[in-house]
Amino acid sequence: MTTLTTATTLHTPAVGTAHTRIEGRDKVTGAARYAGEVPFADLAHGWLVLSTVARGRIRDLDTESVLAMPGVLAVLEHRNAPRLTTDYTSLLGMRPDPTCAVFQHDRVPHLGWPVALVVAETSEQAREAAETLVVHYEQEPHDVGFGAGHPDAYAADGHMPAVTEKGDLDAELAAAAVVVDAEYTTPEEHHHPMEPHAATARWDGGRLEVTDSNQGATWVVGELANLFSLDPAAVRVRSEHVGGGFGSKGVRAHQVAAVMAATVLQRPVRVVLTRRQMFSLAGYRSPTVQHVRLGADTDGHLRALAHRSLSQTATGYEFVESSAGVARVMYDADAHHTANRVVRLDVPSPTFMRAPGEAPGSFALEAALDELAEKCGIDPIELRLRNEPDRGPVSGLPFAGRNLAACLREGARRFGWGERDPRPGRRREGRLLLGTGMAAASFPAGAMPSTASATAHPDGTFTVRISAADIGTGARTALTLVAADALRTSPERVRVRIGDSDFGPAMIAGGSMGTRSWAWAIRVAAGELRERLALGTGIPPEGITVRSDTTEAIGALAAAERHSYGAQFAEVAVDPGTGEVRVRRMLGVFAAGRIVNPLTARNQLRGGMIWGISMALHEEAVRDRVSGGHVGADLAGYHVATHADVPRIEADWIEDTDPDDPVGIKGIGEIGIVGAAAAVANAVWHATGVRHRSLPIRPDRILAAAAEAPDA
Ligand code: MOS
Repeated sequence: MTTLTTATTLHTPAVGTAHTRIEGRDKVTGAARYAGEVPFADLAHGWLVLSTVARGRIRDLDTESVLAMPGVLAVLEHRNAPRLTTDYTSLLGMRPDPTCAVFQHDRVPHLGWPVALVVAETSEQAREAAETLVVHYEQEPHDVGFGAGHPDAYAADGHMPAVTEKGDLDAELAAAAVVVDAEYTTPEEHHHPMEPHAATARWDGGRLEVTDSNQGATWVVGELANLFSLDPAAVRVRSEHVGGGFGSKGVRAHQVAAVMAATVLQRPVRVVLTRRQMFSLAGYRSPTVQHVRLGADTDGHLRALAHRSLSQTATGYEFVESSAGVARVMYDADAHHTANRVVRLDVPSPTFMRAPGEAPGSFALEAALDELAEKCGIDPIELRLRNEPDRGPVSGLPFAGRNLAACLREGARRFGWGERDPRPGRRREGRLLLGTGMAAASFPAGAMPSTASATAHPDGTFTVRISAADIGTGARTALTLVAADALRTSPERVRVRIGDSDFGPAMIAGGSMGTRSWAWAIRVAAGELRERLALGTGIPPEGITVRSDTTEAIGALAAAERHSYGAQFAEVAVDPGTGEVRVRRMLGVFAAGRIVNPLTARNQLRGGMIWGISMALHEEAVRDRVSGGHVGADLAGYHVATHADVPRIEADWIEDTDPDDPVGIKGIGEIGIVGAAAAVANAVWHATGVRHRSLPIRPDRILAAAAEAPDA
């Protein structure tokens, strides 16, 4: 037995100091194994066969010849696959995404729908056989035509109420001295994390074990247990390293198909998605059409604010890209109307994608604010400051720390906003037109119940276990710093183990709530462990373990408007000859709670801002109305910002410790992208004098708009 004295030694806080990723060396040397690489004895490989029609029925599959091909073990399809339970409530009270419930019927709801899984001894054999499989369809006419005038659009809730209405909108718009009435559009966008989705399923002594790449083991266990009617305790999901998620890595077709095949064959089966398959199986961000109307007095005071958004969803599933939600937080008005609407089309279900709602919503709202500033002759930052609400514009709840104004002022100072000539089209450099723009940002700051355990070992080290997912954010490292402080020890003495559902239920890496929710649970467990050790208790060989559950503490939080905030600034150069827009520099200043690890936090925020550049200028998945599928469904056809597109980007923050969180955290996963595209678009207007209300701002759009401009 050893007695530990760390509790009384002087402790230098680890939270707030830069720390490189704990698993960084493993990742760059290849020692870190991802879901598709973990070796298993007797492993079989499944390859999904996707539909080539956008709507209809499967009439037949010529499985016989495929079964005779080398190495082929099975072909699972709707006539022979195990039955699933699908009438349960999933995450956020939603129904399970029917894309997961594969091989249950002969209907084809969209192009790229899984119609079969071919399982073989090797991945190559499975692929060869899958590509040979002939599927006969009864094709039906499909509709993938998203647009503002679609007759079947309806108001839909999603994760927030569909409609909010306060005051007489028409009266306030009529009484307003200045009105902006504009439509903004954003295209279909895809997450495409670096690591494709991959899962291996196997039965081990009556327990289902899934080695997976996901954003939350607890989530995947829950869905698989429901779908396969299993006791959740009989399912174990592990995901040690995850190469990005952004909302796309929940339960999807490949895990379910892998479990089915492992069950039928009684051996481990791996299913990996290809980059192309991800376009129809991994979810995506819906395109949006957003109508924003603002009415203001000459001093910029908002009398009217209306934000209506339309997005698309699948025929069998309702997912809402809640773009109008951001207006419910950002600005008040005497008349304040917001609505989220959807239209059901023959397309895959969209899903959560980094800052769902806020990312496209902030583009429309913050671009409209810029138009209003121009019309009022008021500086866009001053316009926002004049419209700072003192309570939630829709909820009426108090704000729990709203530091937007501080972000705007600090950002303006650092960016050199004061020297800006507000008139557009004035700055030139050779043939280039230069401009600057800004936008404001907010994203919800919440916490969800989690459980954790902390163990003290006789050698003076500690192990913390939590079913967290580090999807590339640096969560593992941040949690180590939090644990070290709670234990009053150094991070080197703490091992944080994550990515295993057997560690108990915990929040997913999502909604910018992962690190905060996990840190809270770790703080409680580690804090209690330290108190136990302070009593001078001896530590037995198996250690002393304390468990925590934050359900009660988080449930006791008072209702309030809880958000992170940010101010985004961009400078662009536009080439009027080629239509090319290049971002020259960006600055983001955020109020996002206490920053646990400045190194990885800056990385997160900059990543969001880079995605904003990508959203403003590059990303667009083009759906072909005739086939119902994508044109160029790969990373050659789907453009994203790469090194040459990304200039000097500065992300920084102001002091914003959350008083209601034990560590002071708010969450930084999503705020970085919010407003970033609007800042770029507003800078393009400042450079050229032309408003671009449709993303991405492609060269052809710059050239077409310039040709139409009156002084062209
Ligand atoms: Mo995120 S879209 O909450 O993974």
